[in-house]
Amino acid sequence: MRRAKISVIGAGNIGGECARAIAYKELGDVVLLDIPEKEGVSKGKALDLACVAPIERFDARLTGTASYGDIEGSDVVVITAGVTRKPGQSRDDLVGINAGIVRAVSENVKKYAPQAVVVVVSNPLDAMVYVAWKATGFPAQRVLGQAGALDVARFRAFVAMELGCSVEDVSALLLGGHGDDMVPLPRLTSVHGIPVTDLLPAEKIHAAVERAKQGGGEIVKLMGTSAWYAPTAGTVQMVEAIVRDKKRIIPSAAYCEDEFGVAPGQRGKGLFVGVPAVLGAGGVERVVQFPLQADEKALLDKSINSVRELVGVVKRMMPDLA
Ligand code: APR
Repeated sequence: MRRAKISVIGAGNIGGECARAIAYKELGDVVLLDIPEKEGVSKGKALDLACVAPIERFDARLTGTASYGDIEGSDVVVITAGVTRKPGQSRDDLVGINAGIVRAVSENVKKYAPQAVVVVVSNPLDAMVYVAWKATGFPAQRVLGQAGALDVARFRAFVAMELGCSVEDVSALLLGGHGDDMVPLPRLTSVHGIPVTDLLPAEKIHAAVERAKQGGGEIVKLMGTSAWYAPTAGTVQMVEAIVRDKKRIIPSAAYCEDEFGVAPGQRGKGLFVGVPAVLGAGGVERVVQFPLQADEKALLDKSINSVRELVGVVKRMMPDLA
């Protein structure tokens, strides 16, 4: 049986860390690609990681490159190419630059890896997944974005810190866009099956939700650039579910029309929104729907509207992608 081939576009902080984690987990061979001016960085990181293999004992071929020909035959392509936000910037402030970058990358993915599942990480996430979908022309099931896996991980970490318990015992779900408009679901958050609402007062839960929403910004303020360890962990969790065909339910930016009332009955006019998705070899194999309470639905609608507005900005910038 041949190993899976996973290409990571953008050999920066997240790209390099993705290559490392994918190789450590032996999910497949890795191609790390950056722009020609950074070819030395992608080659250097790939070589450095290849020399970790004897110590950490993993078998994976790592290739650094600036040539798209090397991604040919990829099963999964992870797009991390783009600029990061600086202190004081929101993710949405990146749309002008990153839409062009993600579009150019996606056109190459279409040409060189037409069968791949594409996992987008570049921000503003929900709009960048839309760009990748339109620019590749791939079926929506094969294009998805990493946001919910990270947001949920941050929320679980903050709940566990508050309770002084293991993060392993905290289970949670969030919906909606990446960032300020994400929709917390405290009623579906539990600690080893015990509803968190029975364990923490409402204000503590609210504080954990707000910290998860602002978690990215908190780190940007501290480091001057955006986070990479947890975003990578979320991304690699998704890649693993796909290449191992695990059918894991992971909150992902997945294409929705009727699902959660995003664009009911409007064929081809849907949006990528954070929802629980069954991830397997085909990419997003199913969006898991469940009834929302009125206040949750109102928050989700607000979040969907924010995504729609940002996609509107992209459509005005690139009318041929509309
Ligand atoms: N093709 C390939 N790589 C590119 C391109 C392009 N057209 N344009 C930029 N890049 C590369 C840069 O050269 C850089 O090496 O993308 C890499 C980005 O790396 P970092 O600046 O370290 O950013 P990182 O922290 O990895 O974040 C990448 O993910 O979470 C988001 O907001 C984050 O949009 C940002 C992206």
